[in-house]
Amino acid sequence: MLICRTKKEWQNCRDQMEGNGSIALVPTMGALHQGHLQLVKQAKADHDQLVMTIFVNPLQFGEGEDYDHYPRQEEADIEKAKAAGVDVLWLPSVDDIYPRDPAVTVRVGKMSERLCGRHRPGHFDGMATVVMKFLQLIRPDAAYFGKKDGQQLAILTRMCEDFHLDVTVVGGETVREDDGLALSSRNVFLSENERKEAPFLYKSLQEGYERFRQQKESPVKTEREIIAELSERITASIDYVELLTYPSLEPSDENDTDEQLILAAAVRYPQARLIDNVIFERD
Ligand code: PAJ
Repeated sequence: MLICRTKKEWQNCRDQMEGNGSIALVPTMGALHQGHLQLVKQAKADHDQLVMTIFVNPLQFGEGEDYDHYPRQEEADIEKAKAAGVDVLWLPSVDDIYPRDPAVTVRVGKMSERLCGRHRPGHFDGMATVVMKFLQLIRPDAAYFGKKDGQQLAILTRMCEDFHLDVTVVGGETVREDDGLALSSRNVFLSENERKEAPFLYKSLQEGYERFRQQKESPVKTEREIIAELSERITASIDYVELLTYPSLEPSDENDTDEQLILAAAVRYPQARLIDNVIFERD
């Protein structure tokens, strides 16, 4: 596995990759776990060369969020990336990616007004801006993102379409612990008790999804029931529970054309914000 640090090193490496087959990109913020590595596996099955980036992007963290405390485990990450078969690992510095204050950035419109966007102002603009930069710098044939961050995946798919980028955006299934908790770099911040109750987030989404499907409940009723259950069963505060069309992220009505729905939730523990979702075909 080749390791690049500076932008110059990366550009030399990119020159050598030319003509050696297709290139897939898995962008990450590190603290690698099986969720990231599953994306690598999926991307490797489809492409000849696999590039991973590890970059904790300051632009997507709001004031008071965990930028300074985000887990950074470079040595362990390098070992995991190598073992997973990453061909090139690029770990740029903040100065490489933001040599000066950006004057032009990506602004996400309505798709960032719901779900996490409403609770993390500016987050998706910062996220989309850095992914746009990586797509320009790396020029991959395909980029892989997890469905666990369903809103992120929907926004990036749309960004690539809207900017006519010649890249295929691919979604990977959410990887979970045996008890259902979605893997996340932030799970390390859960106390023992929080870790014990956290799987209920996914369980309540699954049960809500079943009731919505089988009992033909309204989206609002489903959301309310899940909020009531979560408030009773877990100590975290609830940011939102929302059922929207996917990938447009609109409330469902008789005119929308999306073939899927997303039932998503976010909860906040003192040291960790957890998100999860169920994405499913509508009847
Ligand atoms: P990060 O949280 O490190 O996640 C990197 C990729 O791994 C994302 O596409 C995310 O959806 C995926 N992922 C995380 N947990 C997963 C799980 N349990 N199962 C499957 N996939 C999972 O998301 C980001 O970084 C950043 O916003 C980034 C896209 C790198 C831009 O800075």
